[in-house]
Parts: sequence; structure tokens; C-alpha cells
Amino acid sequence: VFEENRKSIKNDIQEEIDFISDQTRKIVHPPPQKPYPEDALLINLIPPGDFKTGKISLLDVINKRRSRRVFSKKYLSLEELSFLLWSTQGVREVIRGGATFLRTVPSAGARHPFETYLVVNHVKSLEKGVYRYLSLEHKLYFLYNDKNLMENLNQGCYGKKFVKNSAVTFVWTAIPYRTEWRYGPLAHKFILLDIGHVCQNLYLASEAIGAGTCAIATYHQKKMDELLMVDGEDEFTIYLSPLGKIKEE
Ligand SMILES: Cc1cc2nc3c(=O)[nH]c(=O)nc-3n(C[C@H](O)[C@H](O)[C@H](O)COP(=O)(O)O)c2cc1C
Repeated sequence: VFEENRKSIKNDIQEEIDFISDQTRKIVHPPPQKPYPEDALLINLIPPGDFKTGKISLLDVINKRRSRRVFSKKYLSLEELSFLLWSTQGVREVIRGGATFLRTVPSAGARHPFETYLVVNHVKSLEKGVYRYLSLEHKLYFLYNDKNLMENLNQGCYGKKFVKNSAVTFVWTAIPYRTEWRYGPLAHKFILLDIGHVCQNLYLASEAIGAGTCAIATYHQKKMDELLMVDGEDEFTIYLSPLGKIKEE
């Protein structure tokens, strides 16, 4: 039963099948960011050039990093949230006429097959609710709020209590076609490698602002996809990480 799964994290497949990617077929590339409606409610974030936060040394954050499951009730500031979003998916440069984003994290072939959603609980000047990060614009797109949101998030994480106490939970979806378009059957391995870089930057950036986070891979697929209002096929939850100011355990 493990054989197939093991195979999916090896590279043999590129020798075994004669695969021609959609890129090689000259099929137009998928958009590097999921579109959003014209009338979307957008919230401006603090631009990276204005950050006064996060100036701690790299060695210090590497030494401090651990998974944090106890959060204080303190609010994050909008600047701190902007810093976390920038650190995980910020767009440094747009190349190939808008086809490719270069970001603060690496990604196989610069395909960056993710969207970042936030479940906001305690962030100053932000209504509670579900948001999506528009990385190109460096803005937040407000999706919705629901009085049961934190309870639904908790259920989506099999009742892990600490999730409910987070100031914000980062939830990443994968849009696999962005990577499949270039790498075909190797894409799925690369997507998993890519998301690790994103979450590691969240770990380090959160420590730099006196906050902490804990990666979660054991979530309920359908409940989380419903919470984000994604289709579960062409876009689905892949990883999440609740975050809050550190309360010493
Ligand atoms: C891929 C991955 C999945 C994880 N999933 C969970 C999880 O579902 N629940 C949880 O409480 N911690 C989860 N963690 C956190 C690990 O338990 C934690 O990294 C590990 O115990 C080592 O502790 P440290 O991060 O403090 O060094 C996950 C970590 C990784 C990298």
C-alpha cells in the first residue's frame, strides 16, 4: 500500500513516461494569481519598505524557532500581519510579461502554486473573517465572516483547541495546474517541497515579531475546503498554521 505513495515522492517517473508538458505544447500559462471580482472589498497592507518590525537577527530567529501551541490574547498589528504575508508570499518582481512572479520564497520553476487565505481573529483594525492575500497588489481581499468561524476552523483541524486561540491562521491552498503545466507528473512532489519553504518563512517571521506558529498537516480536507469556499479539485487546502503572540508555556 505504501509503494505507490513512495513512488510519488521519487523522480523515476520522468524516465518512465514520455511526457510532454502543456508548456512544451505551447498552451498558454495559467494565471500566477487567482483572479478576484472587480467589486471585491480590498484592504491596503503596509508596504515592505515601511516595515519597522522584524529587525531581529537571523541567527536569533533560527535559534528561537519552535512550534508554538499556546498563544496570548494580544492582537497583531496590521504592520505585523503585512510583514508575515510579505515574508511568506511577497512578490519581489514580476517577469515574463506578468506570467511569473518572483517571491520571497523559492518555488520549482517559479511556478508558486499557492494562494494564501487568512482566518483573522485578533488583528487590530481588521474585522474577523476569512481573507485572501493578493500578493501582486500586496492587499487583503475580504471574503466573509461567520459567527461560527473559529469553531468551524477548530472542527476543520479535528478539534485542536489551540487553533481557536490564534490571532490569525494562515491556510494555504494549492492550485496544482500552475506546476503541472510545466512539470506534469513531477508537479505533485514539487508542490509539497514548495509549501515547506513558505511555512518555514512563517515560522521565522513570526519569531521575529514575538509571535509563534505551529504547522498543521492533519486537517479535515472537506471542512477546510468548505471554510475557504474552494472547489476541492482545482484548488484545495494543503497546509495551515495558526499563529499568535507568544505566551510562555
Ligand atoms: C509537515 C508537518 C506537519 C505537522 N503537523 C502538525 C499537526 O498536525 N499538529 C501539530 O500539533 N503539529 C504539527 N506539526 C508540528 C510538529 O509536531 C513539530 O514541528 C515537531 O514536533 C518538532 O517540534 P518543533 O517544531 O518545535 O521543533 C507539523 C510539522 C510539520 C513540519
